[in-house]
Amino acid sequence: MGVEDAPIVIGSAGRRLYLIDWFRTAFETLGLNGRIIVAENDPTSAAASYGDEMRLLPPYTDPAYADELLRLIEEFEPKLFLSANDYELMHLHVDTNIAAGLRKRGIFVPGVSPAWQKGCADKLHMAHMLEDIGVNTPMTVTGNEVDRLLGAAGSSGEFVVKHRFGSRSSGLVVVTANHLDEAVASSAKSVRRRADSTDVLDEVIVQPCAPGSEYGVDIVSSLVDEGSLSGVFARRKLRMRAGETDKAVTVDPAPFADAAAKIARAAGLSGLIDLDIFLDSAGTVSVIDINPRFGGGYPFVHLAGADVPLYYLSQIFGIAIDASWRHYEYGVVAAKYQETRVTAHGQQSSDMQ
Ligand SMILES: Nc1ncnc2c1ncn2[C@@H]1O[C@H](COP(=O)(O)OP(=O)(O)O)[C@@H](O)[C@H]1O
Ligand SMILES: [Mg+2]
Repeated sequence: MGVEDAPIVIGSAGRRLYLIDWFRTAFETLGLNGRIIVAENDPTSAAASYGDEMRLLPPYTDPAYADELLRLIEEFEPKLFLSANDYELMHLHVDTNIAAGLRKRGIFVPGVSPAWQKGCADKLHMAHMLEDIGVNTPMTVTGNEVDRLLGAAGSSGEFVVKHRFGSRSSGLVVVTANHLDEAVASSAKSVRRRADSTDVLDEVIVQPCAPGSEYGVDIVSSLVDEGSLSGVFARRKLRMRAGETDKAVTVDPAPFADAAAKIARAAGLSGLIDLDIFLDSAGTVSVIDINPRFGGGYPFVHLAGADVPLYYLSQIFGIAIDASWRHYEYGVVAAKYQETRVTAHGQQSSDMQ
């Protein structure tokens, strides 16, 4: 493989077409003839036909997934395998050793250690992992331990009830102490039961409301020296929509640097992950959520000047770049909007989903 052919695989890009655009631009900046292979489950998704090549992968739950993925790897010999889907990442890093196998072949698979990947899916476990490394996070209990929480945190102020294994704000309610029991019961009704769950109240967690304003923070570690932090990017969330940041303003990441370095080191981080963090007027941070992948907030810092795709490719292909990839302008406001593209022609509507 030479400069003529620099293949990378982006899996489950879904609606994040901008990632494909920005990797393409980064290839151009580095003077590489990049080839972006999109691995999708749905051949008519927005991303499926947006790369240079598309390969269909079965759902990660399908026993054929691993073989199909291996076939794709053998066909293209990519240097990078990137997934933006939490469930696929769990499958790659935790439920199987596919990610470890790819890395052994010399393929970069950004992410966190299996223990942290697992923690990212379980908000109760994550709170304990953060406490263990000295990163501040709201006290977190299950729906069965509300009394213990009130005993420790007092019953003034507001509390957040949410699904322990949730995403996109699932089961989320904000209430005062006197309404906690009913909020827990109501959140528990919409829990998606897991095979090994016994008590549905253990599938719900309760936390005091974190003080201050909410920020989205991307932290980036070297792909070749795991755990060493190379960039921190922050924006204050101005508006949320369907569990994603819809409007945000970029800010100086300095208040988050200490927590970022601790998490990167403990999680054996390689590449970028996305954190939700509250910051109060005294400068105290509370980390409430970790998404171990490119999250919906990255565009806000990219559009202000950060360039993580350029950093990834420079590391993967061994091309030196200066530090400007990690510089961005503060005070930039950006808002999301919707787009639609044609993804197939000549289809019978009865065959489509
Ligand atoms: N303890 C908390 N204090 C204040 N707001 C919270 C708290 N927990 C969650 N939220 C709000 O709910 C949103 C979703 O919760 P989060 O823990 O990030 O779960 P997920 O994004 O996985 O659904 C957060 O972005 C934040 O706005
Ligand atoms: Mg979140």
